[in-house]
Amino acid sequence: MKAIKITAPEKAELVTDAKLTADRYSDDILIKTIAVALNPTDYKHLAYGITTRPTVGCDFAGIVEDVPSGTSRFKKGDRVWGMVHGSNQVRPDNAAFQEYVYSKEAMTGKIPDHLSFEEAASLGVGALTVGQGMYQEIPLPFPNDPLKEKVPILIYGGSSATGALAIQFAKLSGFEVITTAGQSNFDYVRSLGADAVFDSRSPTVGEEIRSYTKDKLYYVWDTIGEHGSPEASAKALASSAPEGQKLYYGTILLKDPNAFIDGSGKLESRPDDVVFSVSLGYSAPGEAFEIIDIKFPARPGDYEFMKTWMPLTSELITQKKIKPHRIELREGGFEGIPSGLEELKSGKISGKKLVYRVADA
Ligand SMILES: NC(=O)c1ccc[n+]([C@@H]2O[C@H](COP(=O)([O-])OP(=O)(O)OC[C@H]3O[C@@H](n4cnc5c(N)ncnc54)[C@H](OP(=O)(O)O)[C@@H]3O)[C@@H](O)[C@H]2O)c1
Repeated sequence: MKAIKITAPEKAELVTDAKLTADRYSDDILIKTIAVALNPTDYKHLAYGITTRPTVGCDFAGIVEDVPSGTSRFKKGDRVWGMVHGSNQVRPDNAAFQEYVYSKEAMTGKIPDHLSFEEAASLGVGALTVGQGMYQEIPLPFPNDPLKEKVPILIYGGSSATGALAIQFAKLSGFEVITTAGQSNFDYVRSLGADAVFDSRSPTVGEEIRSYTKDKLYYVWDTIGEHGSPEASAKALASSAPEGQKLYYGTILLKDPNAFIDGSGKLESRPDDVVFSVSLGYSAPGEAFEIIDIKFPARPGDYEFMKTWMPLTSELITQKKIKPHRIELREGGFEGIPSGLEELKSGKISGKKLVYRVADA
């Protein structure tokens, strides 16, 4: 097969002799890859010095080729989207940027008729991360069981691929959604349903949000995790919570693996009064994995959560209650991906996801 593999430190390149992994999980669906999207994690893995030549890529859309017996939601020929563990050093021959990919059933969703393969390719990492971070870890009320009374939530970084979906899910859950973005993306995040938007680059953004929420912000989900966002979030959160109410800060940027492995993470500037959570998409398949020399034990409960989350999310997408993040379709198929990764790493991509068509349907 063609595949984009990590062949040396900081080098992702096209190879034409890739083989699909022989290690097929019992509910792995075989999918012909039609379109893929790029994520920051893809270029971050190039720096880790992984020597097992893993295929890169997490986000895909494609056509089901083969379904193992016992799986119920899919059949051969279905158009599907999903997330797979890309750049996986312990399972190097299964990832999105290759011609065929295995995807576990609960990591996969059907593409509704109104979405193209390209649009659907942008959904996987974002939709699964929102599920893990907001609904499994914090956990917020589900979109199909919303709050009876509106309370504010801050989605920090509303124009990121994750934030654009998070705004929509939080609205469905009944929150008043406050977000941050660059000024050029203010209209975009409002179009997704944000009730108020603040400039991420304002040095006083935390104080501005605390003032706007009249010191009553109890929930923050941070899709940036750096550039001052934890500190601003600490300032935006209410100075104290009333009896029976806790303060929550969830992030998706894993700075210290132990924060995830043993739950020792804290919001640094307010360690004592805030419930901290961090999620990692790679735990969603429920399999053990390693990044460099760090061993992440399997978390079967994370995969169980996906068995509820993915059918619900697929339904909301089919009903057009959740729409994909904006995409920019790039030319060049697999060959174009390495330069797209460079561009994403440069930090110049704002408010959209880079997508490549890699095969005809
Ligand atoms: N734990 C997990 O499972 C998980 C899953 C997905 C992503 N992540 C991580 O989460 C982060 C976001 O990923 P993503 O794919 O959602 O991001 P993305 O779409 O690549 O996000 C880019 C956004 O970041 C914003 N941004 C850039 N510089 C900024 C700054 N200095 N201050 C505030 N905002 C800034 C930009 O918004 P404006 O131009 O509007 O400011 C831009 O739209 C990445 O670090 C990624 O690796 C983790």
